[in-house]
Amino acid sequence: MSALLHEQAGVVEPRTVKVWDIAIRAFHWSIALCFAGAWLTAESERYRDIHVLLGYTVLGLVAFRLLWGVVGTRHARFANFVRGPAAVAHYLRTLLSGRPERHLGHNPAGAVAIVAMLSLAALAGLSGWALYEDLGGEWLEETHEFLAGAMLAAVGVHLAGVAVASWLHRENLVRAMLTGRKDDPRATP
Ligand code: HEM
Ligand code: HEM
Repeated sequence: MSALLHEQAGVVEPRTVKVWDIAIRAFHWSIALCFAGAWLTAESERYRDIHVLLGYTVLGLVAFRLLWGVVGTRHARFANFVRGPAAVAHYLRTLLSGRPERHLGHNPAGAVAIVAMLSLAALAGLSGWALYEDLGGEWLEETHEFLAGAMLAAVGVHLAGVAVASWLHRENLVRAMLTGRKDDPRATP
């Protein structure tokens, strides 16, 4: 039954549309947990096996996301949300003007953080693997630590971006990443 018929029948239906499929949401919360876990287990020799396991899981998740970014559902595909610098600058300008340009999927600025996080997660994981395989010395240890730190900084930017965008768009983006649904733009006047 269409939303209109529902309304005529007196049924009030929240006007939302499905944006994030279950694979994206499972990927998201898994990489967040594994990354946090890898950090918490990084320092101690005692937790090294867990650290390595979580680090490999991060690598597997990134590999899955790269594949899903090509063959996945509409809003998961990189071609549908990764934009050039001009689009990022334009989006940020509209954000600051108080009338932010709405994107049902990821906005162009969020996409920059997403690409940074995926790249740094891959590099941190690969350098960790090389370290574990004794392919380098002190420098590799430092590189691994630096890449993990850079990823943490990108996550910080990501979280700040989610908070600011949720506020300025007046939309709970965290809930959307949990339920997969966002407000239907066609229902917004
Ligand atoms: C700690 C590590 C985290 C990592 C590595 C991470 C990574 C990512 C990635 C890669 C995406 C893109 C999703 C996709 O299309 O695949 C994303 C989106 C998102 N993340 Fe995170 N995330 C983290 C933590 C969090 C936390 C703690 C929250 C909530 C408080 C959060 C909220 C969101 C939201 C709302 C989106 C969708 C943004 C949008 O609407 O464009 N993330 N995150
Ligand atoms: C992608 C997520 C990962 C993150 C965020 C991460 C983070 C870190 C950090 C911050 C350290 C430095 C700890 C210190 O202060 O000494 C560290 C150390 C280490 N990591 Fe990772 N790591 C990741 C993945 C991996 C992987 C996939 C492996 C191995 C297969 C690995 C193996 C190691 C080893 C062996 C050390 C100890 C280096 C030493 O002897 O000090 N890591 N990791």
